[in-house]
Amino acid sequence: MKKTTINKATTTLIAGAMLWVASLASCSKDNKNTTTTLTLYDSLGGSTMVADPSNSGAMIEKGRLGIRSVVDSTIFVIAADPAINSQFSVLLAEVTAGNLSGFSVLSKNLTDFFCVATGAKNFTYAGKSMTDAHNPATNSRVTTKSTNADFDAFVADLVTGANKNALPAYLIARVGAVVGTLRTQVVQK
Ligand code: HEM
Repeated sequence: MKKTTINKATTTLIAGAMLWVASLASCSKDNKNTTTTLTLYDSLGGSTMVADPSNSGAMIEKGRLGIRSVVDSTIFVIAADPAINSQFSVLLAEVTAGNLSGFSVLSKNLTDFFCVATGAKNFTYAGKSMTDAHNPATNSRVTTKSTNADFDAFVADLVTGANKNALPAYLIARVGAVVGTLRTQVVQK
């Protein structure tokens, strides 16, 4: 039976969802006096190219850089979180052994996923569906199905990861609103 656990982070994010929905209607006028709706990806930095601090000489979209930074911080927060880190045992065993290949794939897939989910135009997500990604029967890198409590812990870790990158509260709330829509696909017990 599914447990419904709503903690403080989730409550904050639900409140933020209302702000997010309202802000979807926020528009800007370009110099042709046409109206453009700003996506969350635009608010995170959008497609403006900036130097990639992790790849000397390479450029990266500012929105993607922000999302990748939050994703990587969040993976480290999860790795240290006893509430859910046992579910990432395959990944953690690899990293402990000095093998970062699984980390790189997860970082890319999560970054692509959140780029697409927030409205990026220049990326696609090629990973598993949210249902298959979180079912041990269809993803051997997952040790067990997730509960509502696991999902809440994941969201709290995501908020911590976002705060480590100084993301403003209203943008954290908007990212949280996107994440909240995925609960029924991720929670499978
Ligand atoms: C809305 C929330 C979540 C999103 C958007 C999300 C997204 C993803 C994505 C995109 C992947 C990669 C799939 C692939 O490689 O094909 C993944 C993998 C995974 N997720 Fe989630 N996830 C969420 C919540 C959770 C929760 C609550 C847990 C458990 C506490 C969890 C545990 C895992 C694990 C263990 C993997 C495999 C990691 C690896 O490849 O080593 N996820 N998730």
